[in-house]
Amino acid sequence: MSGTDLASVLAGARVMPVLTVRRAATAGPLADALAAGGARCAEVTFRTQDAERVLKEMAAHGGLAVGVGTVVTPEQAERAVAAGARFVVSPGFDEDVVAKCRELGVPVVPGIATATELMRALKAGLDTVKLFPAEPLGGLRTLRALAAPFPRMRFVPTGAIGASRLVTYLTHPAVLAVGGSWMATTDHLRRGDYEEIRRLTAEAVERSTT
Ligand code: 3PG
Repeated sequence: MSGTDLASVLAGARVMPVLTVRRAATAGPLADALAAGGARCAEVTFRTQDAERVLKEMAAHGGLAVGVGTVVTPEQAERAVAAGARFVVSPGFDEDVVAKCRELGVPVVPGIATATELMRALKAGLDTVKLFPAEPLGGLRTLRALAAPFPRMRFVPTGAIGASRLVTYLTHPAVLAVGGSWMATTDHLRRGDYEEIRRLTAEAVERSTT
């Protein structure tokens, strides 16, 4: 269903910068740096006081499909979508969050770490999940084993993945995109190091397309 399908929102983008932004004032330069690096999507975590304003500013930037992450309640999903989020990511699977996103008409990507959670997502009619936290769970080996019994499920592995592991995940046919904060960390943002954010984003985008 277009509009409720993450793949159509991502439109081929395979790297998803995950951003935890404390100050709304940094949203503009951050969006510029990501877009200059070639990013076409971003996930803004709903963990900071300014997250709603950050979403608004980044969504208004236009160059990025901006979604919200760390959504754990339906009410957060509602606020984030009102602020401009085009998709919703959650660290775990919650039926109420899934139902709210469906009502709002936005794709929802719940975190799963086991086959049982994956089956709940399937039962809820979802076709994309976030494998979280991917590296501590065993990385590609775990993804491969979890994906095998569920041939139609697509994955967005996230969690402690860096530039060096990106391509390893992307080579698996069930992987839609890879998420991670390494391209724009809270430390980069605190230092205002947008050039480094641009450079790391460009490196990741290049690796994801070659
Ligand atoms: C999060 O929500 O913190 C991210 O999904 C984890 O990404 P990271 O491990 O790359 O920081």
